Amino acid sequence: MLRGPVCGQAGLTGLRTKENGEIAMSRVVCTLARFLRVLLVVFFLWQVLLRLVRRWVHFPAPAFISVFLNSRFRRALQPPADVVGWMDIRPGMQVLELGPGPGAFTVEAARRAGPQGTVHAVDIQADMLERLQETLAKAGVQNVSLHLSSAYALPVPDQSIDRLFMVTVLSEIPDKPRALAEFRRVLKPGGLLAVGEFLPDPDFPRPVTVRRWCEAAGFRFVARYGTLLHYLMTFSVYGN
Ligand SMILES: C[S@@+](CC[C@H](N)C(=O)[O-])C[C@H]1O[C@@H](n2cnc3c(N)ncnc32)[C@H](O)[C@@H]1O
Repeated sequence: MLRGPVCGQAGLTGLRTKENGEIAMSRVVCTLARFLRVLLVVFFLWQVLLRLVRRWVHFPAPAFISVFLNSRFRRALQPPADVVGWMDIRPGMQVLELGPGPGAFTVEAARRAGPQGTVHAVDIQADMLERLQETLAKAGVQNVSLHLSSAYALPVPDQSIDRLFMVTVLSEIPDKPRALAEFRRVLKPGGLLAVGEFLPDPDFPRPVTVRRWCEAAGFRFVARYGTLLHYLMTFSVYGN
């Protein structure tokens, strides 16, 4: 029985031009499909390798990945308007963003806090803060104060923050109970902690893991938002 051309098979000779054209087209489709398959396998292996390495070796995400963090591609997969929208930041609020990196979410948070509000952007790497400064200048945002500091020593007073958020940061912090205790110190009664994660991040923790970390530190789960590729969970300080 004569079937249509199969991937990798040469076309039949002596066919009419139209059929030859179809065979050529199907070869292009096959080549593309093969290329995509290889790309997927390479991406999968890369992710497995990175995730294994990150299990044992803790270090902050290097500044050169800013190109990806702040790319249109990433914004399409994890839209800042959605992520920051779920945090319910209102005009005049005091907001703290931990680990802003190059600022993929900072601009949106600053716009929502408005000129009466402030975003305190705290990052452990000076290189990242330089990139953040460039992003803010381009966007014309002025209500962000930058701090070179760590999650263990937030440069703000007790109970001074309405919203404390971080995206793809919590799992990079080696001593989570210590950091979470510091988050509790700075949040106002009624304030919210928001933790965002992104599936392609090699440090991606499952929502259940983040919830366990936060609840063990005395936070109360409020809500979870997101898609298959990313999520945001909000918590209040237990008892507030
Ligand atoms: C993967 S990047 C995420 C950047 C940004 N939040 C985003 O999603 O595009 C992690 C960021 O957290 C910062 N970071 C890691 N550990 C930190 C710590 N202990 N204290 C403050 N910042 C930290 C890193 O320097 C880096 O900028």
